[in-house]
Amino acid sequence: MHIGVIGTGYVGLVTGACFAEFGVYVTCVDKDQSKIESLKKGIVPFFEPGLESLVNKNLKNGRLRFSTDIADAVKDSLVIFIAVGTPPRGDGSADLSYVEEVARQIAKNMNGYKVIVTKSTVPVGTGERLKKIISEALNENHRFDIVSNPEFLREGSAIEDFMRPNRVVIGAESPEAIAIMRDLYRPLYLIETPFVITNIETAELIKYASNSFLAVKISFINEIANLCEKVGADVHVVAKAMGLDQRIGPKFLHPGPGYGGSCFPKDTLALIRLAEEHGEDLNIVKAAVKVNQLQRERMVRKIVSSLGDLKDKVIAILGLSFKPNTNDTRESPSIHIINELKKSGAVIRAYDPAAMNDMKVLFPDIIYAEDPYDACSGADALVIITEWNEFRNLELERIKSLMKDRYFFDLRNIYEPSKVKDLGFIYQSVGRKV
Ligand code: UGA
Repeated sequence: MHIGVIGTGYVGLVTGACFAEFGVYVTCVDKDQSKIESLKKGIVPFFEPGLESLVNKNLKNGRLRFSTDIADAVKDSLVIFIAVGTPPRGDGSADLSYVEEVARQIAKNMNGYKVIVTKSTVPVGTGERLKKIISEALNENHRFDIVSNPEFLREGSAIEDFMRPNRVVIGAESPEAIAIMRDLYRPLYLIETPFVITNIETAELIKYASNSFLAVKISFINEIANLCEKVGADVHVVAKAMGLDQRIGPKFLHPGPGYGGSCFPKDTLALIRLAEEHGEDLNIVKAAVKVNQLQRERMVRKIVSSLGDLKDKVIAILGLSFKPNTNDTRESPSIHIINELKKSGAVIRAYDPAAMNDMKVLFPDIIYAEDPYDACSGADALVIITEWNEFRNLELERIKSLMKDRYFFDLRNIYEPSKVKDLGFIYQSVGRKV
């Protein structure tokens, strides 16, 4: 089978490379010429473990190719995935102009029956809308079907999530399109992946409901963590015992500075907006969004209330990406925290294994360090914001000797409080007794 993937961002490139790995011939298209030129040379413009080697392997065996011409992908392909961005508008709703433009381009280049699949996260009703747009833009009368096949890839473990998903969701009306999609995903049948076959609207909503529920889980445990600090309880033990109840489950109960990334913040707002358009109030999702904002502010207060006046205080920040194993800084809690500390006059010395170039665009005027130790040099306080593996086993004696003062804020709870305190640090984490 030959497929096309329009959009070589995070979702499109992972989808294209993984389907090529499954033995499918894939043409990935992007309008960004320089991006396509580097992808043709096997250079992936962002950091995702395993992706560059998968791209190179499938470039070499000829199953993956890159182009700037949508016609190239449409003419040869039975299935075309739309994986372009759906950025938030000012009111939180998703901007569908890129998706709609791609749909028009697909329509103009059709030369037979096509299955047109939305992979981008799109609001409920988009499938119907695309049907209309494509029908109107067709040059000749060709048959086509629309499918919603939302992705559930986590940045940092996207390849694993694609190859071994918890489920595959296919929203479609026609048995022909469903059969083609099943065929495409056949390697996952062999490992007994559950398939949810449903209508387009349900598939579209599953994506928003899943991301919003995970955001609710995180905000919930963050509030419990805050309460733990007041009553002397340990949030990890609370979360562990809660998670042992199979009705609750152990995942996404890790407290911290709040969720970030391109998905949860955007999708929760888009779901709230969608509900409002239909006269419904999603109070629980709204609360999760509010709690997330409050959690970031709370992290800043933790630091300010210990250090007092921040004027000219040197603060080492470890971790700028919104989570480990990615260079993505979108909606990263570090942005809010750095902003507030800077406003109060603090000098920031930051380090991140992958995200420093991205952060330089937002904060050109903070100090970017060589490594964690360089960041801590002369610092009054150390703040860990992202739980990169290389921060889990720092030489704390060395850090202590490099720092001017001993404040240590571990916002991801990666250290054992008593060990750090015994070394002489003034240690604080989230939801654990100090
Ligand atoms: C999320 C979903 O997990 C994916 O299933 C989905 O496909 C993706 O959005 C998307 O819509 O494209 P992602 O944003 O890559 O994936 O990252 P997550 O691992 O879900 O983490 C999101 C944020 O929540 C991070 O800032 C992370 O630090 C935070 N988090 C996560 C916590 O604070 N606590 C937790 O227990 C888990």
